[in-house]
Amino acid sequence: MRVTTHALGHAFDGLPSLFEGLSTTMEPGHVYALTGPSGSGKSTLLGILAGWIQPAMGSVRREGVEKVGWIFQNPHGVARRTALDHVSYAYLVEGVPRAEAEERGLTLLERFGLLESRAKQFRALSGGEAQRLMLARGIATSPDLLLVDEPTAQLDLRTAATASEALGKIATAGTIIVVATHDQRTKDACTDVIDLSAFNAAGVAA
Ligand SMILES: Nc1ncnc2c1ncn2[C@@H]1O[C@H](COP(=O)(O)OP(=O)(O)OP(=O)(O)O)[C@@H](O)[C@H]1O
Ligand SMILES: [Mg+2]
Repeated sequence: MRVTTHALGHAFDGLPSLFEGLSTTMEPGHVYALTGPSGSGKSTLLGILAGWIQPAMGSVRREGVEKVGWIFQNPHGVARRTALDHVSYAYLVEGVPRAEAEERGLTLLERFGLLESRAKQFRALSGGEAQRLMLARGIATSPDLLLVDEPTAQLDLRTAATASEALGKIATAGTIIVVATHDQRTKDACTDVIDLSAFNAAGVAA
């Protein structure tokens, strides 16, 4: 499984190009930090990788990628469902028996520091807990490609630090993970960095 971009670039209709000449290969087991200033095209690139946006230049090749998962900036869950429900549900829909689904759910919650919050309803979780739960659920659904947009943007510094730490634990064998971020600690927690500012239209490496 692999995602390869070749001389990839994008411009929205009639606007200057955001980035150009991005050629890279992404593989399972890695967590790619996608960095660059606000407006540099990080979210746009995630959309291109997902196949939602047709790139203006170059191409993307997705080999063996069938299931794509997204984690958006704002955590979205089911208000009255517990944290454990959110992760074990991903296994239940795959036909895993309830007891085992919950067992696996608990293991994931523990990995993301949420074991103590397992019985809390989603609406009772803090911003950081909710964000970490989204990461746990993103992993539970075992996508081939997992796209994460700005996981720490709306969190305070301490909470952002915990979410960044959690990202360090997100790397998983069968999944290619790409995380758009401004946060230095999130970047540090990733295994690879793709800096969009090195591919801006002027072609100037940062
Ligand atoms: N559908 C669209 N049509 C025209 N312009 C767009 C469209 N979507 C995004 N843009 C513009 O493209 C630029 C890049 O947007 P994008 O959301 O990819 O940036 P970003 O790097 O994710 O920024 P941030 O760090 O603030 O999230 C911005 O100037 C944005 O306004
Ligand atoms: Mg963005």
